[in-house]
This record gives sequence, C-alpha cells and structure tokens, in this order.
Amino acid sequence: MMLCADMTNKNFRRWIAKTKKERGSNIILALDYTIPNPRELLLQSKKTIETLSPHICGVKFNRHLVLPLGLYSGVKELLDLTRTLGLPSIMDCKINDIGSTNRMIAHHYYTAGFDAVTANPFIGWEDGLNQVFKISNELNKGVILLVYMSHKGAVEGYAQRVKNPNTNKVYFQYQIFAEKALKWDADGVVVGATYPQKIFEINKILNGKIPIYSPGIGVQGGNIELVAKSRSDYFIIGRSILYAKDPIQSVRKFNEIINTS
Ligand code: XMP
Repeated sequence: MMLCADMTNKNFRRWIAKTKKERGSNIILALDYTIPNPRELLLQSKKTIETLSPHICGVKFNRHLVLPLGLYSGVKELLDLTRTLGLPSIMDCKINDIGSTNRMIAHHYYTAGFDAVTANPFIGWEDGLNQVFKISNELNKGVILLVYMSHKGAVEGYAQRVKNPNTNKVYFQYQIFAEKALKWDADGVVVGATYPQKIFEINKILNGKIPIYSPGIGVQGGNIELVAKSRSDYFIIGRSILYAKDPIQSVRKFNEIINTS
C-alpha cells in the first residue's frame, strides 16, 4: 500500500472543495498562455501562478503548456509550484481512446503530478473509461467528465436525442452523460458556462452529489452575473484573466461577483 503524508493529495474532490472554502474563491485558472518562446512561457506561467494563487482554488492546464514545455520538464516544474502553493491541478486532456491507451495517458499525467484529468464519456465504460477510473482510484486522483461543452457546436453532440431501445424512451445525450457520471462516481462534470439553463437542469439530475465545473466565461460569451446564479460549483476562467490589464484585479472582481450573487 502506498502511504502518503499529505492527506490533501488523497482526494481531489475534497481538496478542491477545501481550497475553495479557505480562499473564498471557486475560480480555477485556465493557464492557457500562447507565448511562442518556451522560456518566456514558463517564466510567465510561474509568475502568474504565484501572483494569483491566493485568489483561486485550482489551476487547469491544457496542451498550450504540455506541448511546448514537455510533461516531465517545464510542466512538472509548474505542477510542483502549484502544489507548493496548496492548489490542486487539472489536466484538461479530454481522454478519448481505448482502455489500454487511456490508462497510459492517465498514468503519465498523474505521475507528473496532476491531481485530476478530464475525460470524454462518449467512449463508454468497458475497455474505455473503466481504465481511467481504475488508475485514478489506485492513485487517489480525480476524473472529471464532459457532460455539456461550452462551445457553440456542443449542441450537435451533447444535445442530440437518443432513444433507449429497451424502453423506447427518448433522452438528451447530456442527460445520459450526467447519469453515467453518477453511476461511475466521477469527481466532477463539465457543463459550459455558456449554457446556464443546462447547468440548472444537470444540477437537478446530479442532486448535489457531483460538482459542476463551468468553463466559457468572458471570451467564449458566458456572462458571469448570469452564470454565478446557476449553481455551478467551480468556474474555469482563462483568457479573461490572463490577458486583463490587471489580472489580480480581474480575478478579484470575478470572485466578488460570484460571492455576492
Ligand atoms: P477561456 O480562455 O475561454 O478558457 O476562459 C477556457 C478553458 O477551458 C477549456 N474548455 C473546456 N474544457 N470542456 C472542457 O473540458 C469544455 O466544454 C470546455 N470549454 C472550454 C478550454 O480549452 C480552455 O482551456
């Protein structure tokens, strides 16, 4: 059995909830810089994590950093810093392959230091996402499932109607994914901040059992005032903070609006 001195690492869901409470913030920073020079990219990313860490509850990474900086080099440095500052980290890799490959993908992200990964429920359980949940349980890490994405084309897949051949009942794809998240005991689901009505609806299905993560505020069109009332648990925000004139002021303002809504 693996022993871990730091209990905060043992359960992503509890850790991020605790950080949210302690810092009075449910904002997860999407660290999506597009600076072409890898050295500058690394330095700017470090600086941003350090300056914004008191005002956020987590950091989400994407291919913006993993591709140019490398998982076990630059990104690992950033993950170590994030952890030292008491913040959990999410790799938004949207895992979407066969089981053995999924396990390998999750293994590397978790080994490098990520506390949670995102995954796509379209691929199903058997020889698919079961491997991601298996390794996440072995390592006490988190899995967040896409239930309704934030972009405009999300409606083409997540809102399609699907007939259950056994009952002939018709459901929306996102309703099925929310039910799967409950069945598989996911650590979170992603529902776009650009669809506040869907957040309400999916929240009803989840009944408070699984937290909702909402990206899409600002640049993608999600309105913070509207979405702050929608009972999402965490807001993922990137460019509106990173490219603000004063990122600290920007994140403070977002926190103020969310906390007073
Ligand atoms: P911005 O700059 O638009 O960044 O605030 C948003 C970040 O979130 C990612 N993103 C998503 N991730 N499901 C996800 O798992 C989604 O529906 C979704 N929409 C946006 C985006 O790639 C960026 O990193």
